[in-house]
Amino acid sequence: MFKGELSLDPSEIRKDFPVLDQEVNGHPLAYLDNAATSQRPLSVVQAVEDYYDKYNANVHRGIHKLSEEASEVYEHARTKVAEFIGAPSDREVIYTRNSTESINLVAYSWGLDSLKPGDEVLVTEMEHHANLVPWQLMCRRTGATYRYVPIEDGGHLRMDLLDELLTEKTKLFAFTAVSNVLGTINPVKELVDAAHKVGALALVDAAQAAPHMPIDVKEWGCDFLAFSGHKMLGPTGIGFLYGKEDLLERMPPFLAGGDMIREVHIDSATWNDLPWKFEAGTPNIAGAIGMGAAVDYLQKIGMDRVHAQEHALIKYAMERLAEVPGIRMYGPPPEERGGLVAFTVDGIRPRDLAGILDTYGIAVRAGHHCAQPVHDHFGIPATVRASFYIYNVPEEADALVNALLEARKLSKSRDLK
Ligand SMILES: Cc1ncc(COP(=O)(O)O)c(C=O)c1O
Repeated sequence: MFKGELSLDPSEIRKDFPVLDQEVNGHPLAYLDNAATSQRPLSVVQAVEDYYDKYNANVHRGIHKLSEEASEVYEHARTKVAEFIGAPSDREVIYTRNSTESINLVAYSWGLDSLKPGDEVLVTEMEHHANLVPWQLMCRRTGATYRYVPIEDGGHLRMDLLDELLTEKTKLFAFTAVSNVLGTINPVKELVDAAHKVGALALVDAAQAAPHMPIDVKEWGCDFLAFSGHKMLGPTGIGFLYGKEDLLERMPPFLAGGDMIREVHIDSATWNDLPWKFEAGTPNIAGAIGMGAAVDYLQKIGMDRVHAQEHALIKYAMERLAEVPGIRMYGPPPEERGGLVAFTVDGIRPRDLAGILDTYGIAVRAGHHCAQPVHDHFGIPATVRASFYIYNVPEEADALVNALLEARKLSKSRDLK
């Protein structure tokens, strides 16, 4: 039984998430797939609906009431996001579709323009493919060398190799703040400082951090930060790139077209001011507005409490999961991780396990979670991942464990036949 302390009252929070109040396969839904995408509270859905119902218009373009209102709310959402991550200026927050696009923006704009043979880009073995493949591609295109920081079996980065891997040749160190498989919370400031010491830029993938813990880009000192709205109570199709203003000023545009220009003549063009220089075409206006409401929701709770809540949940979940015979959990102890855990159970394929859990109404993810190199490290093709958020309750961890025990029985009885 759960004996810890929750900093939030999930029963109050759950009232804002009607999607959670349903049965799946005859069992109460336990949504434990938050690392893939979170649910959205009523206030976010309402903000999106209000935009379409009350002031739908394109932004920055029309000199009419609706367009002015849409532009104002859209830009105000940017201010909220900037405050949420401690960005000194709104000009440093660029709307993208998701973390993947944010990282690709840096790769194609900064990378293509700056990298050359002899330069090095450093990533880590625990990255999501979104922070690996763009750099593989960019190194191939520019002749730069691609290197990585390995992990050790406990799920931490090999910090002892950092001095060797970060040299004056390193132009960028791109790493995740929190691993989406191991849950490891990396020492971001230490890594940023190490990159800066050799004159490299630091890009932080905050896809699994921004939804779950307080972030201050000034404190971290990172040059770029990427994160996605849909993992932090916001709509899908909206994400963010934070970049230091002087860097963004010097970088060429990524996508080109309307809105990102100042003037266009038949054979030349000049660029708009930041952040719009990187926002070509009609943006995801509804998504950005919904995101403003999501930030309001999280800020009202307080990110310290969000983090504390998830810590209590993951600690309890891992203690209980340890009771399942044949289970192996990957990554560090609860004190050093975010609110997710990836595991395998002897004799049952992760995909089959997730299918069995679904019959008990438990939504988890099975596969390589777009982080194949982590799985390669452990010599396994896949894991099952349970990931918690503010609305989860300890009883859902109990349900997960009970269903796993049933799955074990089922597989044993099949073995006997
Ligand atoms: C650590 C990490 N980085 C990047 C991404 C990519 O996010 P998106 O699919 O929203 O671009 C994910 C998604 O799961 C992730 O967990």
